[in-house]
Amino acid sequence: MAHKICVIEGDGIGKEVVPATIKVLEATGLDFEFIYAEAGDEVYKRTGKALPEETIEKALESEAVLFGAAGETAADVIVKLRHILDTYANVRPVKSYKGVKCLRDDIDYVIVRENTEGLYKGIEAEIDEGITTATRVITEKASERIFKFAFELARERKKEGKEGKVTCAHKANVLKVTDGLFKRVFYKVAQEYKDIKVEDYYIDAMNMYIITKPHVFDVVVTSNLFGDILSDGAAGTVGGLGLAPSANIGDEHGLFEPVHGSAPDIAGKGIANPTATILSAVLMLKYLGEHETANRIEKALEEVLALGLTTPDLGGNLKTFEMAEEIIKRL
Ligand code: NAI
Ligand code: MG
Repeated sequence: MAHKICVIEGDGIGKEVVPATIKVLEATGLDFEFIYAEAGDEVYKRTGKALPEETIEKALESEAVLFGAAGETAADVIVKLRHILDTYANVRPVKSYKGVKCLRDDIDYVIVRENTEGLYKGIEAEIDEGITTATRVITEKASERIFKFAFELARERKKEGKEGKVTCAHKANVLKVTDGLFKRVFYKVAQEYKDIKVEDYYIDAMNMYIITKPHVFDVVVTSNLFGDILSDGAAGTVGGLGLAPSANIGDEHGLFEPVHGSAPDIAGKGIANPTATILSAVLMLKYLGEHETANRIEKALEEVLALGLTTPDLGGNLKTFEMAEEIIKRL
């Protein structure tokens, strides 16, 4: 049966990198039913809604969502969509590819960021003139499910020859109550995964370690804001935003998107790097159980990167679609 995928191109380069990715998916020979939906600045200008009801319905009834980028309405689109789909795990692989300028050539870990609470719960207040607060929510339930997710992922990666280790990043020495709970739950869940190594670091030190010893990590798990900051920094160590994919995964839904935004500075020129979106589609295929096809695409992409057949951001001179074509040739 065809995989039913909700496709949201969104704004700016979303309209370039997503169609290029769809071309690659179509070339794999797998059977897909692509259901197109709108979201972002453009539909907002036209209808007054950045995330139309119809889009939400299409997303909810699909097996997975492939998302490009939104512009200024990003918070009302992607943050809302993650919430509606209850995708509690934000998964961001950090991997060095040959041919891409990286800190080291042996970086291969995954950041798992809690996607539903922490400081991004959105509980802010102005309690007096010039005095504002934000509430940091950490619950046992959400912490437990994100740690279980991280340990399961480490188990899967161990089967593929990885070390089988989960590193928890927190700030329990200062945020004694919230991260005290976070750290405690981490070691409680770890009890159920004796086959997986565990360690924990303070987030500030962790931020240094992803630069000084990025090759030692396997699965890194952290809370929402820390994960947001850590993962953009990590992307910078392996070639930047043009290469950074992400998956948002819940118990019922999966939403796959490049980390970058609509890139208005290069939109419309046809030079956006499609890699981040293609790698997001690779994560989507793994989520759909299509591991063989996922690996085929990644391998073809690896060859293309190693040969320098890339868009200008990586030093090549190909257009978005030409790079996709090079990948298709090698499938
Ligand atoms: P951005 O990620 O769009 O661009 C940052 C820089 O990276 C730009 O110089 C851009 O040209 C470059 N870049 C990004 N993706 C690239 C690619 N695939 N190939 C080559 N170069 C690439 O972030 P920025 O400029 O901060 O935000 C632009 C708009 O995107 C804003 O309206 C923002 O709200 C939105 N945004 C949306 C996100 C989403 O939909 N998930 C995430 C981040 C920003
Ligand atoms: Mg971010």
